[in-house]
Amino acid sequence: MDDISVTRINGLIGAEIGNVDMSKDINDRTIEQITKALAENGVIFFRDQDLSADRQRAFARRFALPGAKRAPVADAQITMIEKEEQQLKNVGGGWHADQTFNEVPSWGSILAAKVLPSAGGDTVFASLAAAYDDLSEGMKTQLETMRAEHNNERVITSMSLLPQYAGAKAKVVKATHPVVIRHPITGRKSLFVNRGYTTHFEGWTQEESAPLLQYLFQKCERPEYQVRLKWRPGTVAFWDNLQVLHYAVNDYHGERRVMQRVSVSGIRLDRAGCTAAACVSQP
Ligand code: SIN
Repeated sequence: MDDISVTRINGLIGAEIGNVDMSKDINDRTIEQITKALAENGVIFFRDQDLSADRQRAFARRFALPGAKRAPVADAQITMIEKEEQQLKNVGGGWHADQTFNEVPSWGSILAAKVLPSAGGDTVFASLAAAYDDLSEGMKTQLETMRAEHNNERVITSMSLLPQYAGAKAKVVKATHPVVIRHPITGRKSLFVNRGYTTHFEGWTQEESAPLLQYLFQKCERPEYQVRLKWRPGTVAFWDNLQVLHYAVNDYHGERRVMQRVSVSGIRLDRAGCTAAACVSQP
């Protein structure tokens, strides 16, 4: 089997992967190469794939961070992300990383296009690692020992306005994580906050946290750290929630968009060498 091809798209984030056929079994060497490409580029895109729900789940189950449990078959759940013609609000239409409100946040998300609007409906990704790199040494030192709470309350409220979630009983879940984490594969540091779920710094009130959080959110969302995916039928995106944010662009009212997502479990961040102490002691 030939190596995969990895073509970088922007200076700081994103690559297109070639020579992978997700409709077939993929060997261990290729999985290692895809893992490396994902860790190094934050988000990777595959084109012209013929990916059934079963193959997408099987593909997701091949990936695990060092120290993580591989997802049991029943856990590699498919989530459909849909916007109907008559709907105005979409799912994911704000900067966030998936499921950071969990004690064990999701590592990867694999999203396949099923129904696309005639134009628009792109997804934009932004690198939290590039944002971290550009902070001053003073700010890096300040953030190094801080933790922040992430919770899903606001998102539950806004999702409950969508017809597909009306009446659904979602549980409020919260967790605290270091504000700066070290990537379990590359060791690269990155910010770990997002507008969708991060509410305040541990030990600080929401009011005290807001100015610094707003600064960090805006920093992460700068165009220099972004890559924008124009979906085509057969496109699959695989992103790393430990180092990128994403935003589903809602510019196709009156048309339908249906995406199929599977999440890949992560690990408790403290166990990844991502505790504040570990980040301080390692260069
Ligand atoms: C999401 O937020 O996971 C959805 C992204 C998208 O539909 O483009």
